[in-house]
Amino acid sequence: MTELSGGPSLPQKRRLVTAIPGPKSQELLARKSAVVASGVGSVMPVFAARAGGGVIEDVDGNSLIDFGSGIAVTSVGSSAEAVVRRASAQLADFTHTCFMVTPYEGYVAVCEELAKLTPGDHAKKSALFNSGAEAVENAVKIARAYTKRQAVVVFDHGYHGRTNLTMALTAKNMPYKHSFGPFAPEIYRVPVAYPYRWLTGAENCAQEAADQVIDMISKQVGAENVAAIVIEPVLGEGGFIEPAKGFLPKIVEFANNNGIVFVADEIQSGFCRTGQWFACEDEGIVPDLITTAKGIAGGLPLAAVTGRADIMDAAHSGGLGGTYGGNPVACAAALGSIETMRELDLNARARRIEEVMKGRLGSMQEKYEIIGDVRGRGAMIAIELVQSGSKDPNPDATSALAKACHAAGLVVLTCGTYGNVLRFLPPLVIGEDLLNEGLDLLEEAFARL
Ligand SMILES: Cc1ncc(COP(=O)(O)O)c(C=O)c1O
Repeated sequence: MTELSGGPSLPQKRRLVTAIPGPKSQELLARKSAVVASGVGSVMPVFAARAGGGVIEDVDGNSLIDFGSGIAVTSVGSSAEAVVRRASAQLADFTHTCFMVTPYEGYVAVCEELAKLTPGDHAKKSALFNSGAEAVENAVKIARAYTKRQAVVVFDHGYHGRTNLTMALTAKNMPYKHSFGPFAPEIYRVPVAYPYRWLTGAENCAQEAADQVIDMISKQVGAENVAAIVIEPVLGEGGFIEPAKGFLPKIVEFANNNGIVFVADEIQSGFCRTGQWFACEDEGIVPDLITTAKGIAGGLPLAAVTGRADIMDAAHSGGLGGTYGGNPVACAAALGSIETMRELDLNARARRIEEVMKGRLGSMQEKYEIIGDVRGRGAMIAIELVQSGSKDPNPDATSALAKACHAAGLVVLTCGTYGNVLRFLPPLVIGEDLLNEGLDLLEEAFARL
């Protein structure tokens, strides 16, 4: 794997010239705490100055290795040439007209790409929005309009956003829901096939979980009342859980047999992140609707709902949209991002990242028994940390390791319902040396723990 800058002038090297945070970051942190609401947290105590490829440079001149990609956003890097070129040209032409007032070509071109790239060869249409949560909300609106039903089924450990409806769809209370209710009605939560924690063993997980889901929907909700089943093909915030193989196809079959719209939330897992354009391709799943955001536009805010044309057309004219949805600069960035993914074959790079990471993390697992599970696909890899000799979650070790990595100049994120998962989401353009150096830093953090 050769090294790619993903940003023209930024050296692809880790460099620490101050303690983390340095003095300039500390000054900015003080200004931040005076005027930015406390509810808006930050993982790292440093302020970014520049970023590109696999590094983030802070205001003190420290260069950090990026294993976060701004939460799975900058898959093509934070300043990919094609993104910068196309978005800059669009900025110079016009910033906004509102697609609902005078449309423009970029929006249509993004929808054409989405029709080509998403699974299935049926006629597809898309609608564009600003954020992942907005896309999920709109997928639910569309499914309800199409089916004329109200209930929505979601899963344990699922995450779908922070707006009122998506908080209701999200499983975890703290920090996402606590004190923010009441939540939207007609949401039903069912188990997900989580192999590592399935009580009767991973080998029984897919069938038993699917049976439970189908029984709960049939008996407690009534399949005929369900508009949509919404699931992440790899669950992100919930802990990078890959549902046991066979589970998703069974759920899709049940949805198809009962007139339920199957929605794949690929906001975190989509756009080459797992080594395929979309994670649901892994089991040959063709969703009725697919929600995308994050990686789609190289860091600019853009999201989409894409799906079967007849379902997408169920909402009446004027029923979907928003002032900024499908902003022309974000659309230009998306076209640059997709161009980069194709040109650099970022699916292949994500698979190579998986190979390197799983090899190294597997060796660490043999040494450190608090690593209970190593899992994920492509450049969406995680380790689940437990107490020695059991599967009891170990959130303390997780946050201690994350802090040690941060101090050493490695950006890592945590996740998981029990706060005990370290997740790795490097930009797909990261060089292999940086990738290995990041893993060295993680290993040193383990050794010190
Ligand atoms: C699977 C999934 N759905 C929805 C969202 C919400 O996206 P946004 O933060 O852009 O609203 C996220 C964000 O992390 C996500 O991972």
